[in-house]
Amino acid sequence: MELPAALRAAVDDMLSGEPLASLQQAASRLSARYRSETLDGKMHLDAKLAIKAYLAARLPATYAAVRTSFEATSERLPEFSPSSLLDVGAGPGTSFWAATDCWPTIDHATMIEASVPAREAGIRLAQEHAVAGRWISADATSPLSGVVAADLVTLAYVLDELPANALGPLIARLWKLTSQCLIVIEPGTPAGWKRILAVRDPLIAAGAHIVAPCPHQNSCPISEPDWCHFSRRVARSRIHRLTKSGDVPWEDEKFIYVAASRSPAPATGPRVIAPPRTGSGQLRLKLCMTNGEVDERLFTKRNGDAFREARRADWGDTLSGAE
Ligand SMILES: C[S@@+](CC[C@H](N)C(=O)[O-])C[C@H]1O[C@@H](n2cnc3c(N)ncnc32)[C@H](O)[C@@H]1O
Repeated sequence: MELPAALRAAVDDMLSGEPLASLQQAASRLSARYRSETLDGKMHLDAKLAIKAYLAARLPATYAAVRTSFEATSERLPEFSPSSLLDVGAGPGTSFWAATDCWPTIDHATMIEASVPAREAGIRLAQEHAVAGRWISADATSPLSGVVAADLVTLAYVLDELPANALGPLIARLWKLTSQCLIVIEPGTPAGWKRILAVRDPLIAAGAHIVAPCPHQNSCPISEPDWCHFSRRVARSRIHRLTKSGDVPWEDEKFIYVAASRSPAPATGPRVIAPPRTGSGQLRLKLCMTNGEVDERLFTKRNGDAFREARRADWGDTLSGAE
């Protein structure tokens, strides 16, 4: 997956003239903070250089994860056509770009972001965008009074920057602000998966319908040391490659998400929750089933249509049958 052309061009424009060495240093500082999940009360994207490093080294991957999560949600909710978006912890506008790409019905968007450089970058990147976004300076852990409900509410790659005790009150507040669908995305690490479970359980208790990725409302059947996550291949631009000092023109972004809706989604089949393992004339899929269990299924040519569907399925896809 690549950034939309207009966003790519706006990012290139913002990064032009920035010495590579300073981008590389800022990117490695940023990635050390993310890797160690440092919570020292300071914003990760607190300086112009940090946000530029984010644009060069992280935005393509977070965009891919967010866009893929939105796609999976829209497949489960084909009638969902939001007109408003509220994105919290917007950074440079990742969800704004991904949501307006996925749902062109969105005609107004509000982004909440506490960091001044991140907000300024988001405003600058989106200045040519057809949807005029409203950028609000606010702390996501505050009561968010005055913020208006939206059809689609999103929170992407933010929980790992907040103290653990902020999660419950924030999700309760965001659910109140959700007219139709709330989507939360986190890094695809064991810790990210646990945070998503901590989001999912109270949402179910509050009456939400989980529409993706889980094909059921039961407790998550996966137990440690395993964890649920997905992966999306991301094309690396030249500046992305140079900033990360990488040789390969792509990287795989691991992520996990949950999409909760106020209305139920149409019936679904199991979801593929690991890379398919193929052999000659057969393949094995690890599936999260609609009955809330995990199953490893072997498909052979003898399974006919089910085999053909399974052969086309990728990690993260939903099968129509196979129960
Ligand atoms: C990792 S970035 C993610 C940005 C964007 N959502 C994305 O997916 O690329 C996390 C963002 O959350 C913002 N953030 C962190 N804590 C916040 C808070 N308490 N209130 C508002 N924004 C916050 C940061 O400034 C940063 O822009």
